[in-house]
Amino acid sequence: MTQAAEDPASWTAVDRFVTDRFGLEDEALAAALAKSQAAGLPAIQVSAPQGKWLHLLARAMRARRILEIGTLGGYSAIWLARALEPGGRLVTLEVEPRHAEVARANLARAGLAGSTEVRLGPGLRSLEEMGRAGEAPFDLVFLDADKPGYPDYLLGVLPLVRRGSVIVADNVVRGGAVADPKSGDPNVLGVRRYLDLLAEEPRLESTVLQTVGNKGYDGFAVSFVTGD
Ligand code: SAH
Ligand code: DHB
Ligand code: MG
Repeated sequence: MTQAAEDPASWTAVDRFVTDRFGLEDEALAAALAKSQAAGLPAIQVSAPQGKWLHLLARAMRARRILEIGTLGGYSAIWLARALEPGGRLVTLEVEPRHAEVARANLARAGLAGSTEVRLGPGLRSLEEMGRAGEAPFDLVFLDADKPGYPDYLLGVLPLVRRGSVIVADNVVRGGAVADPKSGDPNVLGVRRYLDLLAEEPRLESTVLQTVGNKGYDGFAVSFVTGD
């Protein structure tokens, strides 16, 4: 029996179907979710199909250096770090000590301790430090921290990418609210300003993909860095 396309139960059912059909769960991912839940972290990680999409993007790019802003329990970091080319490295930024601690344990359980670094502190400060330190450019950036901070994160990320890098930002559609110019929600204002900056930045070519799934109606911004 088919369900109405507008029915969130149908979105969840399709996420379940896709997750089962493609075998998108395994011990390390399940343990990361269980340990995150047990530690009281909010269940706001990407879905399994979304995690696999990030993983495939990183694989297709042959990413050697991946940057994530907003670690939570390390679920998306596991998907991304598993895509790294041999010798590659993922750096993920997290402001909450408890989240960082859970994430480090989850990454270690997944066998990824050697290829990942969970950097504790405000994301913008870490970005600025990396910029000052002349950190090598990242191939892929996944932006998923506090939404009001997105515009500043973009400015912090731009010195850390190169021609050919890709920047993905989560949660930019917000149930459709992104298209409401009257919204006063700081999260909506943050992602709207982020999209404005993407559109204005001559080094970027960007689009937004709307998504539905077990996390509701939202979407990703995807940007390709066209110049140094
Ligand atoms: N990427 C994760 C989900 C991240 S949720 C996944 O899909 O598995 C957003 C995370 O951003 C939370 O852990 C939150 O603590 C963190 N965060 C919020 N403000 C931040 C800041 N200023 N700097 C770094 N991380 C921040
Ligand atoms: C929230 C944050 C996220 O990154 C997400 O994917 C879903 C929800 C939140 O802060 O509520
Ligand atoms: Mg998110």
